[in-house]
Parts: sequence; structure tokens; C-alpha cells
Amino acid sequence: MALIFTYLFSLPLSLLFISLVFTVSSALSHDHDHKNIINSFSVDLIHRDSPKSPFFNPSETPSERLTNAFSRSIHRNKKLLTPSPNDVQATVLSNRGEYLMEISIGTPPFRILAIADTGSDLTWTQCKPCTHCYNQTSPLFDPASSKTYKNIPCKTSTCMSITRGTCVTNPKLCPYDVEYGDRSHTEGYLANDTLTLASTTGRPVSFPKFILGCGKDNAGTFDKRGSGIVGLGKGQESLVSQLGSSIGGKFSYCLVPLSSEKSSKMNFGSIAQVSGPGTVSTPLLPDDFRPENFYFITLEGISVGSTRVKFRYGVEQGNIIIDSGTTLTILPSDFYSDLESAVAKETDLERVEDPTGFLSLCYKSPESGAEFLAPNITVHFSGADVNLSTLNTFVRVSDDVVCFAFYGDDSGSTSIYGNLAQMNFLVGYDRQKRTLSFKPTDCSKM
Ligand SMILES: *[C@@H]1O[C@H](CO)[C@@H](O)[C@H](O)[C@H]1NC(C)=O
Ligand SMILES: *[C@@H]1O[C@H](CO)[C@@H](O)[C@H](O)[C@H]1NC(C)=O
Ligand SMILES: *[C@@H]1O[C@H](CO)[C@@H](O)[C@H](O)[C@H]1NC(C)=O
Ligand SMILES: *[C@@H]1O[C@H](CO)[C@@H](O)[C@H](O)[C@H]1NC(C)=O
Repeated sequence: MALIFTYLFSLPLSLLFISLVFTVSSALSHDHDHKNIINSFSVDLIHRDSPKSPFFNPSETPSERLTNAFSRSIHRNKKLLTPSPNDVQATVLSNRGEYLMEISIGTPPFRILAIADTGSDLTWTQCKPCTHCYNQTSPLFDPASSKTYKNIPCKTSTCMSITRGTCVTNPKLCPYDVEYGDRSHTEGYLANDTLTLASTTGRPVSFPKFILGCGKDNAGTFDKRGSGIVGLGKGQESLVSQLGSSIGGKFSYCLVPLSSEKSSKMNFGSIAQVSGPGTVSTPLLPDDFRPENFYFITLEGISVGSTRVKFRYGVEQGNIIIDSGTTLTILPSDFYSDLESAVAKETDLERVEDPTGFLSLCYKSPESGAEFLAPNITVHFSGADVNLSTLNTFVRVSDDVVCFAFYGDDSGSTSIYGNLAQMNFLVGYDRQKRTLSFKPTDCSKM
């Protein structure tokens, strides 16, 4: 494992801290001294099943990896329904994502590889000394060795607003407690320290006074090869909220297809603007639309060839979330079954069972035979028709079986537009204009 880490970390980080790091102030500090500098930079997102990822398990077959990813999609959605009985401070309805991101914390910067999660907010890592840390293969972050590390005191507006005023024991500390949808949790203290992101487009960017969690009691389904989470949701403590005005409220990502060896890219600031030929945009619902950390949009229907399938019971505003951390697209089962019939009607191949046991519409299509071409499927979001390609709608689950990568499920509280459907699109979030844009893009060329 150590070798894999060395390899990963040696990539964009050589010479990193020799160059002058330019800084902006955190948008979360309520002191109004931020300078509204628009930063533009890109970082790599590494799919957990990519050979570049330390989570990559070479002994798994591609079909086993997919089976696990499907299982994570569905598992998460099930958990959406069952909030924790002893709801502490925040229950985050998230499976914590399929992508990893490298960040550095502190002065000098300490590198961490964490799960990038568009479904949760707090960025945290396991900290020394740790009372109940899960086993981690890389060294733990030691606050004592960072010159810029500061605990956030209890009686501060930052602590009050993030923890809803629950700190009592020690006035110098602000304890936090986050429980995730699958019952994994992190507990520790909120701190502020410098966050540094290694930009793929130039020098690294630093954000002083970044609010993060120093995890002291963390358990659940975390992988020992990562250390915590980068929160990219829409709550106030998320990375994108904290960078706020300094990135003009804009970020985008371009997810490479599963078969690509390249890393996916995530962009912040003005380069995250998505425009030009083929771009379509749909409204993002206001931040207070629902308390969850997700980005809600509105799905009106889906066309298959010339058949338009509508939601059976009318269209509600904010009836679906967009999430990079869920593999499949999950829809209400009645709507899914209408959609499945329409897709089946347009496909002339022999239907077979899904060898992974998850998906319901599968066809025999030998890898060596003619390339499988899915029917043309267009997703109709409010004001944005998104034309999907075969790689967005079907996955090869074994050498000779392809399956429709949408899933019908009523047990979750919302539908999810998953990451397979987003691959090879530049997906742009503009939180100031409240729009979500899609532009067909070859993400491996970004
Ligand atoms: C933690 O991981 C190390 C190395 O992977 C292993 O040797 C050790 O037994 C593990 N400890 C526990 C408590 O799982
Ligand atoms: C972060 O730490 C600095 C000291 O380095 C302090 O002045 C500032 O108030 C802290 N910010 C928050 C939000 O606690
Ligand atoms: C989507 O497909 C439709 C029908 O083929 C076409 O009219 C439309 O221009 C396409 N949209 C984009 C953004 O390519
Ligand atoms: C799908 O759309 C493409 C481009 O819009 C078109 O060339 C092709 O004929 C369509 N395929 C089917 C099966 O309708």
C-alpha cells in the first residue's frame, strides 16, 4: 500500500510548495473581509475502481467491481428512508461517493486522499491522537505539527451554526458528530486550518481558515486506504460553500468513462463555467428547498427513440438529485417500468438475466460481436434535454451481457441521477445563478 501511495502522491505534487501559494479568505468567516478574488483551478478526481486508485483491487473482475458499485448505489438509497433513531447532529444521507480527491491540510501541507462526496458537507480527516480511529494505512494528520491549526471555540457563530449550539463540555472546543446514511460516523472537533489543493492547471491554491473536522472517533465502512471525506454538498461547511465567492459559486466536473485510464477532472471558479455548443441548463432548486445536502433538479420525463415517457403522477419540482457518488440512476418504480418497456421495445436482442443479479433489463451482446448500440435516450430536465449515449445508459456486466443501468426503487426518499449517466458530460454547478449545465464532452481529453 505504501508504494501505491508514494506513486500517487508523487504525481502532481513535486515542487508543490516552492512556488508562491496565493491565498483567498474563506467565505464562511463572517467577518466580511474576503476579497472576492475569483480563483480558477482544477483537481483530479480518481474513481475508486480505477487502477490509479489505492482502493483498486486487482483481484476483482470488472463485473465484480460493477456488482459492488451497484450494491453501494442501492444500499445508499435504501438507507435514505430510515433516519437514525438517536439523531445526533447531522445524519448525512450519502454513500460517500465513488471518487477520491487529494487535499492537503495545514502548514506545512499534509497530504490526504479522501472520498469526494457531493452528498455531504463536512471535510474531515482522522487526527492524532485518536481515540477510536479506523485502521488507516497512511500516517494520521497531527494538528500539533501544523503551525496554522486552530481549534474552533464553542461560543462562536461558526460552531453554533454548524453544530446547532450543542457544545457544552469544553468552551475551547467545538465537538461535531456526523452520522452517514449507512450508519458510518465521524466524531471529533471542528478546527480551522489552511487547505491546499494541488491544481492540475498551475500552482497549488491555498485557502486559509478552512473549517474542517479533526476526527477522533470514526467508524463504519471507511476504507483503510483513505482518510476521511471531502464534503462537496450544498451545506455551509462544504468545500464549495466555503470557497464561495472566491470561486464565484462555480464548480464543474467531467467524469471519464469507466473504461478510461485517465483521471476525471473537477474545476473551480471561472473555468468551471459551462457554455458553448450543445450546452443545456436546468434550474438548481434553492438551497433551502429541502434540508438534505443534495443538489435538487426537476425531471419531467425521458424519451426513448420517439416515445416520451412521463412521470405517471405528474412532475414535482425537485423530484431528483444529481449525485456523482451513486453509480446507477434510480427512479420511482412505476416510472422505471414504463421506461424499461420503452427501451425493450426499441432493442432487438436476446434478453437474458443479469449475472450480477441487480439490473432487470439485460441483453446478450458478445464483446467480439458488433458494437452494442443503445436506443437514443434523452433525459428531459426542466429546460434541458440531455441526449445520452450508450455508455450512459448500458453497462457491460460480463463478457457477453449488457444491462440497462437504471433502477426502479421506491424505498428511497428521492430519485438519483447517477454518475454513469453523467460520464462524458461536463457538468457545471453555478450556485449564484442557480443553474446546472450539461455539455457533451470527451472527458478523457480534458
Ligand atoms: C491495521 O492495519 C495493519 C496493516 O494493514 C495491520 O497490520 C493491523 O493488524 C491492522 N490492525 C487492526 C486492528 O486491524
Ligand atoms: C480561524 O483561526 C483564526 C486564527 O488563525 C481566527 O482568527 C479565526 O477567527 C478562526 N476562524 C473561525 C471561523 O473560527
Ligand atoms: C439531442 O438530440 C435531438 C434529436 O436528435 C437534437 O435535436 C438535439 O439538438 C440534441 N441536443 C444536443 C444538445 O445535442
Ligand atoms: C440516434 O440519434 C442519432 C443522432 O441524433 C441518429 O443519427 C440515429 O439515427 C439515431 N438512432 C436511432 C436508432 O434512432
